[in-house]
Amino acid sequence: MGEESAIVETGKSTARDLAELVERVPMVFPRHLTNVVAEFDHANAGLDSVIDLVDAAVRELGGRELGPESEISLQIWLSGKVSYKFSRHDAWERAAEVLSGRGYRVTRAGSAVVVSICFTPKSAIVGVNRVADSLSSWPGGEVRLSKTPDQVSRAEFKLEELFKVFPIEDGGDALDFGAAPGGWTRILAGRGFRTTAVDPGDLDPRVLRLPGVVHERTTAGNFVRSGKGRFDLIVNDMKMSPDRSSRLMCDGAALLKPFGLAITTLKTGTHHVLSQLDEAFEILGSEYDIEFARQLRHNRNEVTVVLRRFG
Ligand SMILES: C[S@@+](CC[C@H](N)C(=O)[O-])C[C@H]1O[C@@H](n2cnc3c(N)ncnc32)[C@H](O)[C@@H]1O
Repeated sequence: MGEESAIVETGKSTARDLAELVERVPMVFPRHLTNVVAEFDHANAGLDSVIDLVDAAVRELGGRELGPESEISLQIWLSGKVSYKFSRHDAWERAAEVLSGRGYRVTRAGSAVVVSICFTPKSAIVGVNRVADSLSSWPGGEVRLSKTPDQVSRAEFKLEELFKVFPIEDGGDALDFGAAPGGWTRILAGRGFRTTAVDPGDLDPRVLRLPGVVHERTTAGNFVRSGKGRFDLIVNDMKMSPDRSSRLMCDGAALLKPFGLAITTLKTGTHHVLSQLDEAFEILGSEYDIEFARQLRHNRNEVTVVLRRFG
């Protein structure tokens, strides 16, 4: 479809079945799911044609997919290099008008059911889904986070996005491998963790001043060998191949309390991604249950994995 979207034809399975599978397996690349109810295959179609399509789709759906909901979110996004002759804003306004005309109260987010319109270079796709079965409440899974003045690295977005889809309990002792310049450490400190930041590189002075932050200026390997401390959470954003990084996480499991949580990025680059992930998961599986693994929107050529240490 677009650069980041695909239609999967299934027999009787719905987006809900797929959502369960994605969480259970876990599947790494799906970020957002919807039940496609219509696809319109003309790149040069005007807005009227697309709106007619939404109208027909919603009318046909009637009570079936939308159920008794009287309020729906309408979300529009683009996948790939799309050049339509109308703006996303106009498309939203017109589609919202149609939905309101059919008796629905239309929101941008926050309703239990979402009507999605995805524009790809070739087509417009209309989908209807429960947000609970969509993997993300953001249009197309495109989480947007804004930069704050005290942010010290763009890497912060990755951890923030993870905590939106995989909330964790705040507070305790945390260990941050590959911490510099200190973005993840800053987020953890903000969530009440006493954080040991391990990196041969410098931490931002603002991070060093945060309560509970200690900088260990060494490599993760050296720190693990020192055997110092017991932690509730280990995070790892080291610039390192997935197999090496995973081995270090396994060695580091000795520093984690039983059933403690670990979060690691696996930096695959763009070649042999699946085989690198398979190898990393196999290594990690010797010490941890894999609770979550996804290429988040803020991951570039990497995957974020959440692990639970065996008891
Ligand atoms: C992507 S940066 C981490 C960014 C950080 N998470 C943040 O939010 O600011 C990767 C870091 O890994 C560190 N690193 C690479 N190899 C390491 C090792 N063996 N032990 C500790 N840190 C390492 C690098 O020094 C670098 O600071």
